[in-house]
Amino acid sequence: MKKINNICCIGAGYVGGPTMSVIASQCPEIKVTVVDINQDRIDNWNDENLDNLPIYEPGLKEIVAQARNKNLFFSTEVDKAIDEAQIIFISVNTPTKTYGKGKGQAADLKFVELCARNIAKVAKDDKIVVEKSTLPVRTASAIKSILQHTGNKVNFEILSNPEFLAEGTAIEDLLNADRVLIGGDDTPSGQEAKDTLSAVYEHWLPKERILQTNVWSSELSKLVANAFLAQRVSSINTISALCEKTDANIQEISRAIGYDSRIGSKFLNASVGFGGSCFQKDILNLVYIARSYGLTEVADYWEQVIIANDYQKSRFAEHIISSLYNTISGKKIVLYGWAFKKDTNDTRESPAIAVADALLDENAEITVYDPKVTAERIYADLDYLGTRSPEDNRRLLKVSNDPIDATKEAHAVAILTEWDEFKTYDWKSIYAQMLKPAFVFDGRRLLDNEEMASIGFNYYKIGQS
Ligand code: NAD
Ligand code: UGA
Repeated sequence: MKKINNICCIGAGYVGGPTMSVIASQCPEIKVTVVDINQDRIDNWNDENLDNLPIYEPGLKEIVAQARNKNLFFSTEVDKAIDEAQIIFISVNTPTKTYGKGKGQAADLKFVELCARNIAKVAKDDKIVVEKSTLPVRTASAIKSILQHTGNKVNFEILSNPEFLAEGTAIEDLLNADRVLIGGDDTPSGQEAKDTLSAVYEHWLPKERILQTNVWSSELSKLVANAFLAQRVSSINTISALCEKTDANIQEISRAIGYDSRIGSKFLNASVGFGGSCFQKDILNLVYIARSYGLTEVADYWEQVIIANDYQKSRFAEHIISSLYNTISGKKIVLYGWAFKKDTNDTRESPAIAVADALLDENAEITVYDPKVTAERIYADLDYLGTRSPEDNRRLLKVSNDPIDATKEAHAVAILTEWDEFKTYDWKSIYAQMLKPAFVFDGRRLLDNEEMASIGFNYYKIGQS
């Protein structure tokens, strides 16, 4: 088995950055270089002030501080890093296609293909190329085909090693992964490559947690894992709507069904809807793949998870509008939270974007507070929708960095991200300065019904009448 002392990762994003930081911190004898074409991102990774890292993740800056410029490097010198590395991770973005065949569903693999072509161009000795990005099943055959046509007699082994970390808990998930999945060919050289990569993870994880499969099972398992997780959220969210009609309580239901060890208790928190860069993208991709094989019923089944999620977001926005007497034009509504979940500054596909857009359509005056998301990001998210002009977005929506002050003379507060700090606020003082009747719409089930009612709020908690 090859002794590894040099790894490179193409893509310094939410996956590449934290994953490689952890590998570097756990494998001091391996030089790890994370490369990206985005100069700003790399500058931020190299910033002396660790509060300026491009990604916020609990525990990340401590790990970067420990390993950076010792055996962990961030650089834009992509070719040099490829040339020196024995293992090359491809961890670039694989967004949903916005053009051409498969538009709106299929994964856009242009960044992955560019990486493969670059590796083919630069490599002078044997490499293990690892798909870390989430990819459609059978992508490895396309990567292999590109790499095999280099003409420079280099042997490439292609492995699939999808990442299962969740944002906000990335470091903990990486250090203590339930499992690591490594897919590769069953040939002797394929087996050697799988064992070589496995040995990297064995620096800190027990061998039993490292599962080896064929490439296609590994690629497909990643899409299926995300589809199952998202399906649980949509399942509980559809039941939350039924609870609101029947006086049942979604939390009691989650508890009651979660005690069944076959169902399990995790991922049963009703919410305003799931967000994040991957659930929707990966399910759409699964749907596309199933349809492309003529499996209409399979595709329809999984598509329903997205339809239910869209329903949950619009149901929440409509509830705000109907509670505020069917007219919110000119009314001040404060949104607490913009990130798609707590403990991250990532806003991709955040339900807050859809809810804000629906409220802005009714000419509400919105003020957003999020402890980690910048005003620039919030406006970029809204502008990207193209629903109204950038000027109108800025006229109707303000961003505040004082959550309490933001509620002055507000008609309503809507909680869209489950940041812990929202629980600690002095809700009595907030009530005192809001217009009456004062409404709180809790899309994350953070606050206590009785306490909120005793202060005087009209308090709505998703999944409870
Ligand atoms: P990201 O957008 O944060 O980062 C991707 C980076 O790749 C960007 O910085 C981009 O500049 C860079 N890049 C693109 N093309 C490049 C090229 N040719 N050369 C060098 N750099 C290039 O994306 P991410 O969230 O880290 O996701 C990466 C992959 O991992 C996706 O396939 C995603 O589905 C998957 N994934 C993401 C998560 C997550 O929590 N975000 C978790 C598991 C898996
Ligand atoms: C998810 C998966 O959990 C990771 O295993 C996977 O690696 C990753 O996608 C990916 O491929 O990108 P992430 O999106 O970072 O991770 O975060 P989750 O904790 O899964 O939350 C996703 C969304 O579902 C969030 O908006 C969250 O608020 C929502 N959610 C989650 C609920 O509404 N209820 C729950 O019970 C759980």
